[in-house]
Amino acid sequence: MAIKTIKDVHLAGMRVLVRCDFNVPLKEGEITDDSRIIAAIPTIQHLVDQSARVILCSHLGRPKGKQVSEMSLAPIAESLSSKLSQPVTFIEDCIGPAVEEEVSRIGDGEIALLENVRFYPGEESNDQDFSISLAELADAYVNDAFGTAHRAHASTEGVTHHLSPCVSGFLIEKELAYLGGKTANPERPFTVILGGAKVSDKIKVIDELLEKADTIIIGGAMAYTFALAEGRSIGESLSEKEHISTAKAALEKAKAKGVKFILPVDNLAVKDLDFKASSFSDSKYFEGNIEDGWEGVDIGPKSIALFKEEVASAKTVLWNGPMGIFEIDACNKGTFAVAETVAQGECISIIGGGDSVKAIKMSGFADKVTFMSTGGGASLEFLEGKELPGVYALDIKHNE
Ligand code: 3PG
Repeated sequence: MAIKTIKDVHLAGMRVLVRCDFNVPLKEGEITDDSRIIAAIPTIQHLVDQSARVILCSHLGRPKGKQVSEMSLAPIAESLSSKLSQPVTFIEDCIGPAVEEEVSRIGDGEIALLENVRFYPGEESNDQDFSISLAELADAYVNDAFGTAHRAHASTEGVTHHLSPCVSGFLIEKELAYLGGKTANPERPFTVILGGAKVSDKIKVIDELLEKADTIIIGGAMAYTFALAEGRSIGESLSEKEHISTAKAALEKAKAKGVKFILPVDNLAVKDLDFKASSFSDSKYFEGNIEDGWEGVDIGPKSIALFKEEVASAKTVLWNGPMGIFEIDACNKGTFAVAETVAQGECISIIGGGDSVKAIKMSGFADKVTFMSTGGGASLEFLEGKELPGVYALDIKHNE
């Protein structure tokens, strides 16, 4: 399904409601990671250059339908204004007559940012009246909030029933091209690296990617459930015993499909792990089985070498999920080695959002990868093959 983008429509002089994902981390009112703001700039700039009247909206955090001053979008307006080198008028509400009045004063090529749409319960409940109130502010709708496209909320889905045209911005277009197009028809060999804590979180992704990949590499705590499925012992490592059969089924499917399925061959394990204090009493590498009393926290050097070898021959690599508890310095070697390998590889490198993006930024290789998704939950659901309501609601390109 090809959706229409802002390149397919003429929006000059029109009031355009643009849904962005400005859900950025804040510490004491300061933005600590502005990637999502930077990612929204091409769409906003294009609309400004087209002389559209740009009305931006977004959520920030989970205020549960109430006004929470710490979750105001005011700091985003400031950041946008300096990045775009033009004023961005911040409107202290997102619906109602006063907002309509302020929006009516926006001229061609000018920008306004509405207050957090989640200050109203109607946003998350996809309330029709709230959707209509948002739609009344504009003549056209652009969705560029990939990170929120898995939510059928008023500003991502409801509003599309009351505005036309409804098209995607450049960010959604790019996310779909990399997470979708480049993995559906990849340059081969196509290697997927999946990590994270739970098999249950990733099983649908594994299932979907077993249809597309040549090699699947598993790291992180979910590898311990696979180790149990292979009859190995894992000591006190995190696992999901109830998903051993799920892991077995994935291993069998890989075999049947001729997909190479690679698990860690060694691990760093610790004793008396205290995550909050980033501490443990002892550490040791294990090859194969992990002894009782020890908890696996990272992949070991032999696994790193093995994974590196696989990535070196790949033409496309998709990475989602850390290899260990990378938040603790002593347990981050595996994750950072994978980050470096993926970034330095002679391949199309796609980072599937969430913790892997965080890890690649921490490792200092962010500028070397081909594409980093701005979505967490959204990228995962998309990789699972699910339809994203915020994308599905947009106009479809017919052969016109
Ligand atoms: C995200 O950060 O994943 C998106 O902005 C969606 O946020 P949510 O999980 O609160 O809906």
